[in-house]
Amino acid sequence: MEIRKLGVLGCGLMGTGIVQVFSQAGYEVVVVGTAPERTQKSVAQIEKRLRGRVDKGKLAAEEKDAIMGRIRVGAGLEDLADCDLVEESIPEDLELKKRVFSELDRICKPETIFGSNTSGLSVTDMAVATKRGDKVMGMHFHNPAPVMQLLELVKTIMTSGETIDTVKAWGTTLGKTVVVAPDVGGFIVTRLFTPFLLGAVRMLEAGIATRDEIDISMKMAVNHPMGPLEVVDFIGLDTELSIAESLYEETKEEKYAPPLLLRKMVTAGRLGRKTGKGFYEY
Ligand SMILES: NC(=O)c1ccc[n+]([C@@H]2O[C@H](COP(=O)([O-])OP(=O)(O)OC[C@H]3O[C@@H](n4cnc5c(N)ncnc54)[C@H](O)[C@@H]3O)[C@@H](O)[C@H]2O)c1
Repeated sequence: MEIRKLGVLGCGLMGTGIVQVFSQAGYEVVVVGTAPERTQKSVAQIEKRLRGRVDKGKLAAEEKDAIMGRIRVGAGLEDLADCDLVEESIPEDLELKKRVFSELDRICKPETIFGSNTSGLSVTDMAVATKRGDKVMGMHFHNPAPVMQLLELVKTIMTSGETIDTVKAWGTTLGKTVVVAPDVGGFIVTRLFTPFLLGAVRMLEAGIATRDEIDISMKMAVNHPMGPLEVVDFIGLDTELSIAESLYEETKEEKYAPPLLLRKMVTAGRLGRKTGKGFYEY
């Protein structure tokens, strides 16, 4: 099957980046969020980002207009009915993702492939919420999606070889490097990276080092562009907590146990950049 028309569900931090990636690659994109007015505002962020590139002479103004012209804000799930591929990027909550996939299964044409941008939840659980388990897989973009090169595909035991081959080939048309991971908690990237991020929170919590000492050390010693606490702020503390909880539930390994400090900060609404306050203030 040829993938031409794309749908994105959820237009938050990751969803906006994914919409931009899809449209920049020349695809028509329909994006559906919780309410069209809010989604329109998120799409305006894409235009702002692109305008910045035009101002710096890195993008032609006509190209920016063409990218924006391929993006349409839909009113509801029905507007995704005839998409060849729909990628969900709604919050990291398995029950919510299962519910939307079940609804999409009813609405979309039988050939539509479903992707989940989950950072590490069970894609198999999402697949069984539909009657098209062979066409459901993880499509994990990394933050920020327009910049990060990796597209981590996740194959469940139900995903067909044909779906994987189609999506692998399509992924390269986005200009991404594609890897295929099995459906184990956290796949490759989140499974490896999460203990490092949680370790930094634990180190801060235990008073072993200050926020700045931790972040500066990792930037200077390992050449990371951001320190781990900056990264958690960037990801969103609520998202990081959900990731840790699901990995801990699956593996029961201590390294994935969410630190109390992370939990308390989420309860206090300090979610990082998205709320203006996390380990840092914005
Ligand atoms: N934040 C990261 O760094 C990162 C990186 C890779 C993957 N992810 C994954 O991407 C997904 C989205 O994360 P995010 O950081 O963009 O979260 P976010 O909270 O910024 O965005 C989620 C968006 O989904 C919308 N939404 C909620 N319910 C919806 C529904 N039923 N229909 C349509 N829209 C709905 C919300 O209004 C919000 O705009 C999660 O699964 C997360 O684990 C996040």
